[in-house]
Amino acid sequence: MQLVLLGPPGAGKGTQADALVKKLFIPHISTGEIFRAAISMGTAMGKEAKSYLDEGKLVPDEITVGIIKDRLSQADCRAGFLLDGFPRTLQQAKALDVLLKELELQLTKTLNIEAPPDLLIVRLTGRRMCSKCGAIYHLLYNAPQNEGFCDVCGGSLYQRSDDSEETVRRRLDVYKEQTEPLIEYYFAQGLLARVNGALPMNEVLLALGQALGQKWN
Ligand code: AP5
Ligand code: MG
Ligand code: ZN
Repeated sequence: MQLVLLGPPGAGKGTQADALVKKLFIPHISTGEIFRAAISMGTAMGKEAKSYLDEGKLVPDEITVGIIKDRLSQADCRAGFLLDGFPRTLQQAKALDVLLKELELQLTKTLNIEAPPDLLIVRLTGRRMCSKCGAIYHLLYNAPQNEGFCDVCGGSLYQRSDDSEETVRRRLDVYKEQTEPLIEYYFAQGLLARVNGALPMNEVLLALGQALGQKWN
């Protein structure tokens, strides 16, 4: 399956992607994670991307499309992939169409996870991430057993630098302006499935499975 996860910041794309790829055995490709890894390694691309992430703005399409082009050309993507956080502009969506054509692949579905803005702010400001394995927690909705440490690997938890309320509001504005139009773009192609992301995590996963014609329990 060639899948795209759409949805505003905090809708639960990363959380659901982690669960989905365990069921579907396809690679999880998150442009946000690729940028954060490049920033922490101090690569040239990371240095260029940093100011955009810090300000909650989108990294320019030329950089982002190039990254996806390299990634989708790798052998593990021949059997499918799950894109999380890409595409985010119409230009990126069109570039993805061209790229898939070159690779002789087609999108199976675009899954749009929806949730209201108030909930997104609570989710993002309460999010904590594992510094070692990337597991996603929430202080209220998915708290770790030992405060400050990952249940999976024991790594220390941190707050993403773009999860301050001010930057979250900027990200939500950017989403509305530049990414929301993609819902119509994929609807018009008959590829869109909508899922209520305000439900508990396991129910969102079930709904995503249903949209993909899979029966999970
Ligand atoms: P990116 O990392 O993609 O961030 P985002 O789109 O803003 O989305 P988030 O990762 O914040 O939210 P999510 O939907 O994954 O939610 P999560 O599952 O973590 O991008 C970051 C930056 O990189 C961008 O601002 C931009 O600068 C740059 N970038 C990335 N891609 C780009 C592109 N294509 N083009 C240009 N620039 C790009 O969940 C959130 C919280 O809620 C967690 O605490 C979780 O535990 C909790 N939660 C999740 N689901 C539930 C639930 N059902 N019930 C209760 N709590 C839940
Ligand atoms: Mg994410
Ligand atoms: Zn961990």
